Amino acid sequence: MLINQTTPFDPNFCRNEREVESKLIVSYLLPALGYEISMWQQEKSYHRFRLDFLAIANQQKHETDNVIIEAKHPDKNLNDHIDQLSQYMLHINVKYGLLTNGREIRIYQKVNDEIQIIFHCFGRGIEGKIDEIKALIGKKTLTIQSKDNGVMKIVAVYHNKGGVGKTTTVINLAATLSKQGKKVLIIDMDSQANTTFATGLVNFGDEEKDTLKDNNIYHVLRHDELFSIKETVRKSRFTSYDMDVIPSHIHLMKHENELNQLDYSKVILIQKLKAVQEQYDVVLIDTPPSLNLYARVALITTDYLLIPSDLKPFANEGLENVKEFVKEIDGYRKFLTRSPIKILGVLPTKISTHAKFGQSTLQNRMNTVEERYQIEVLRDCIIYERDDLAKCVEQTLEVGELEIADPRAIFDYNPKSKSVDEFETLAQLISQRIGLT
Ligand SMILES: Nc1ncnc2c1ncn2[C@@H]1O[C@H](COP(=O)(O)OP(=O)(O)O)[C@@H](O)[C@H]1O
Ligand SMILES: [Mg+2]
Repeated sequence: MLINQTTPFDPNFCRNEREVESKLIVSYLLPALGYEISMWQQEKSYHRFRLDFLAIANQQKHETDNVIIEAKHPDKNLNDHIDQLSQYMLHINVKYGLLTNGREIRIYQKVNDEIQIIFHCFGRGIEGKIDEIKALIGKKTLTIQSKDNGVMKIVAVYHNKGGVGKTTTVINLAATLSKQGKKVLIIDMDSQANTTFATGLVNFGDEEKDTLKDNNIYHVLRHDELFSIKETVRKSRFTSYDMDVIPSHIHLMKHENELNQLDYSKVILIQKLKAVQEQYDVVLIDTPPSLNLYARVALITTDYLLIPSDLKPFANEGLENVKEFVKEIDGYRKFLTRSPIKILGVLPTKISTHAKFGQSTLQNRMNTVEERYQIEVLRDCIIYERDDLAKCVEQTLEVGELEIADPRAIFDYNPKSKSVDEFETLAQLISQRIGLT
């Protein structure tokens, strides 16, 4: 008996564990998920365990991305078998487990030292759920995931309009990702150096003591051998979590022509970042509100682009420039055999919380962006305008007679602020989209 659209799966077909294995798993589930016969093993012995099935998405090194499948008698309660599955997954270090008695199907994922349920459905009607299951543990999904997993990702945050929340997005997204255990590097490419300031690196009282002017992003781009990322990076204390920053400097402006004369300055950052790809999970690049060399370098170097926008008319009109710019840079990337920039979408920022502004205005603005510019709006990740978000960068510290900047990430400044939740939602979405695990 083969299950297909005309004969949907009926759990009553399975009268014992063997039949759950043969009728549901072997004849339907494994083929539907893209596992050919050579890619799974039944009754697989592994150390002291005997697994019902092991589906192998990655033959070589990424054993963790495989799937353990355990079949139970239709009368058995799956709750009684979670411990066993958990033992298998944790000891063998396999990331996914599927547990079924034919009536019910559950998928678990290993997260650190425990397993968590990530999917549940009934055996009856499984045909309607198979695409969701495929997206989680299908052969293709796991193969793609593993190829990309553990590879450092670069995200540029860019809009050619100023004041839309780029810097605010970079620093708080970076801090939130760091809090979630990711290793993050921030690169400030804006001569305004707002990110450098907001990460607490401008902690010298006067210009005489400027510790940044001889070692910043300009030097990284200016020298092909010297000034590696390692040599230029600073530890920031604007959050209680680890954060590395490549600072910017107001001098960047006057050096733009000089860098423009050097062919390698547009591509050197790609190479220098490659040298530290084992150290970081994600690099966030803050950019100037212009189409200048530094914005160019950011877009040539990046894998992904996030576009913060307050969705007001000027910012929207600016999106046309952003699109043109991306197109032009993509042309250049082609020569470098780099794939086109992957656009993560428009992030609504500084959105008014006033009731009068209301849902309908916001919805209209978001619709306009999508219709006119064909860029997805990240509707589930709105960053609202909140005082806390502006205030946390303005914190100062008195040292003797001096008042020194002491900016804080939003969750360190006010853990109860709603902005904290908003950035957590954003961090989660970005992690998912760029494949951080
Ligand atoms: N969501 C927000 N709520 C309140 N103030 C914000 C918010 N986002 C940005 N700001 C403030 O708006 C100004 C511009 O933001 P910024 O992030 O520096 O924009 P950009 O980097 O695009 O120029 C800053 O003073 C910042 O503190
Ligand atoms: Mg800025």
